[in-house]
Amino acid sequence: MNMRGKKIDTSLCNACGECIRICHESRVLVRGPDGFPRYDRDERCILCGHCLAICPRGAITFTTDGRTDRDAYCAEARPVGGTAALEPALELLFSLRSTRFFNGGAVERDKLSLVLEAMVRAPSAGNEQNRSFYIYDGKHKVDALDADTREHYRKSTARMAGPATRAIAARLMAAKDLSGVTMRNRLIADLPRKERESAYARLFDDLASLYADGDFRLFHGAAAAILVTSHTNTTDFHKPFHRADVEIAVTYGTLAAASLGLASCRLGLSVMAFGADRKLREKHGIPETSAWTGFLPSGTPTSSGSASPRADR
Ligand SMILES: Cc1cc2nc3c(=O)[nH]c(=O)nc-3n(C[C@H](O)[C@H](O)[C@H](O)COP(=O)(O)O)c2cc1C
Repeated sequence: MNMRGKKIDTSLCNACGECIRICHESRVLVRGPDGFPRYDRDERCILCGHCLAICPRGAITFTTDGRTDRDAYCAEARPVGGTAALEPALELLFSLRSTRFFNGGAVERDKLSLVLEAMVRAPSAGNEQNRSFYIYDGKHKVDALDADTREHYRKSTARMAGPATRAIAARLMAAKDLSGVTMRNRLIADLPRKERESAYARLFDDLASLYADGDFRLFHGAAAAILVTSHTNTTDFHKPFHRADVEIAVTYGTLAAASLGLASCRLGLSVMAFGADRKLREKHGIPETSAWTGFLPSGTPTSSGSASPRADR
C-alpha cells in the first residue's frame, strides 16, 4: 500500500491561516504554538486537497511514498524506463488546481475569447449545442454578480437564523430529518444528539454572519466570468444530458484558462443560487427557458500563488 503524507514548508508559509479556515469542518489543520499551521487528528483527514488548493504560497505538498504527488504521478505516467517529459496536456491535467487568489488585473480580451472558443467547442449530447454563454468581462461586472449572489444567501441564512426557525431547523437536523441540507460535517454528525442540536444552531449563526460580511466573496474577486446555461425548450430526449453539456463546457474553459496562465475555480454555490432564485436570473438577463447553469470565474493569479500551485514544485 502506498504511504500518503502531507508537508508544510514553513519557509514558504506566511501563516495566513487560509488552510486552517478551509479545513474548519474537519479541524485537521490547527495553528501550532509557533503560529504556523500543522496537521492534527490525521485520522479525520480525507486528503481532499482543499488546504493545498487554497494555499496562496504553494507551501503545502502531498506525498506518496515520500515523493511529491506530482512527481509520483509523473513517474507513473512515464513509459517504463523512459525519461521523456510528460505530455503537455497531461502536465496541465496533473498540475491543475482551483485558485481563489487573483491579483485584480484585467483578463485580456484575446485570452477570454480563446477560453470562450474552447467552451463553445466542448462536446454536447446529440451535438445539440444547446448552450448559451454570458460574458462578464470586468471586475465590476463580476463584483455585481458576486454581490447579488451573496445577497441571495444573506437573505436565506438570515431567515434560518431567526430564533424560532433556527431552533426548529437545528432540532430537525440533529434528529437527521433534514440531514444533508448543509454541507457534510462529520464533526457535528458525530456529536451526541443535544450537542448536535446546538452545534447546528451555531452553524446557522456562522453562516448568517458569513454572508452578511461585506468582505466575503463567492467569486473570489475574479476579474472575468463566463456563465453557461442550457435551454429547456428543446427535445425531451436530450434533456437528461443538459447538465453534463454545461459541466463539460465549464471544464473545457477551466483547462483553456489554465493553459493561458489564467486561474479559475468552479462555483457550485453560485450555480445553486442562480438555480433557486428567479429574480437573480432575471436581473442578470438569464431567460426563464434556461436550465442548468455553470460559472467559470477567471483572473490572473496572484504572483505568490499560481494558476496551478502544484506546477510550481
Ligand atoms: C461542481 C463543483 C462545484 C464547486 N463549487 C465551488 C464553490 O462554490 N466555491 C469554491 O470556492 N470552490 C468550488 N469548487 C472547487 C472545489 O472546492 C475544488 O475543486 C476541490 O476543493 C478540489 O480542489 P482542486 O480543484 O484544487 O483540486 C467546486 C468544484 C466543483 C467540481
